[in-house]
Amino acid sequence: MGPAPPDSTPLLPRPFRVMRVRRELRDVWTLELEASDGAGPVRFRPGQFTMVYVFGIGEVPISICGDPAKPDVLVHTVRAVGTVTQAVCAARKDDILGVRGPYGEGWPVEAALGRDVVIMAGGLGLAPLRSLVRAVVARRGAFGRVVLLIGARTPAGLLFSRELAHWRARFDLEVRATVDAGDPGWNGEVGVITALLPRATFDPATTTAFICGPEVMMRFAAADLVDCGVPPELVFLSLERNMKCAVGVCGHCQFGPAFVCKDGPVFSYQRIETSLRIREV
Ligand SMILES: Cc1cc2nc3c(=O)[nH]c(=O)nc-3n(C[C@H](O)[C@H](O)[C@H](O)COP(=O)(O)OP(=O)(O)OC[C@H]3O[C@@H](n4cnc5c(N)ncnc54)[C@H](O)[C@@H]3O)c2cc1C
Ligand code: FES
Repeated sequence: MGPAPPDSTPLLPRPFRVMRVRRELRDVWTLELEASDGAGPVRFRPGQFTMVYVFGIGEVPISICGDPAKPDVLVHTVRAVGTVTQAVCAARKDDILGVRGPYGEGWPVEAALGRDVVIMAGGLGLAPLRSLVRAVVARRGAFGRVVLLIGARTPAGLLFSRELAHWRARFDLEVRATVDAGDPGWNGEVGVITALLPRATFDPATTTAFICGPEVMMRFAAADLVDCGVPPELVFLSLERNMKCAVGVCGHCQFGPAFVCKDGPVFSYQRIETSLRIREV
């Protein structure tokens, strides 16, 4: 698939109809949206995001977590944390939301061609990585070993459990999950996600890594990957910052010399390592 076509009206939200709402976790919902203005679907690259607008309430950046091969359905998985995300999660079938985008630089899938792939997702970080996993699975033969490492606070906090079971059942994906605190039904790993790395099967020198999760998790995960020999220019992270315009104009999402909305949200560790070490940048 080629790059997404340029958006000629980048600040104007388009109306999208809510087609389906599914509750994933206690405070997380997945919405499937369809364009209702006849102007075509949102073609996207894994890792890109849209600005989702709840009329009269506000607008938030949300990653696209559907299948890049099926752009007709725009899929967003959202945790209700504040005013706007709560309103997004309260949307029901046939409601209309505003959507603009897609925006940003996504996961550079081509940087992993012919290489081992390590994907590390912490908590809701699996949402922005889900479309990457789907893109890799769709071209499975083009990559070496593929390892998916997932961390959550509790077993009940593991996202996309059905899809996870499907990925686990594949012989050509290594999937490992860990939780901070288990429960009586959990017989998997307990501990931080980086503790899964020594047990995963990949060759660091020929690995490309993709990480998304809380910033502290990404900092440790990237440093551990580089320590074990993965080239820092081939470790990619997706950052979150407050956004307003999403097109590199307002400066709200400044991160050191970069704008997260335009230059990111995906950056190589090599590029942002210094800024990442400074809190509140
Ligand atoms: C590029 C990008 C992609 C994103 N993708 C997703 C996504 O796929 N799904 C998703 O649910 N969110 C995603 N987010 C985060 C989402 O944009 C924020 O949660 C949202 O802007 C919060 O707005 P609000 O009005 O609901 O909360 P606010 O009223 O702004 O905040 C309410 C409270 O929640 C806290 N808060 C704000 N953001 C977060 C957060 N991310 N996690 C925990 N607490 C928070 C605030 O500090 C505040 O205390 C993404 C952000 C970016 C920059
Ligand atoms: S949100 Fe305006 S510059 Fe990034």
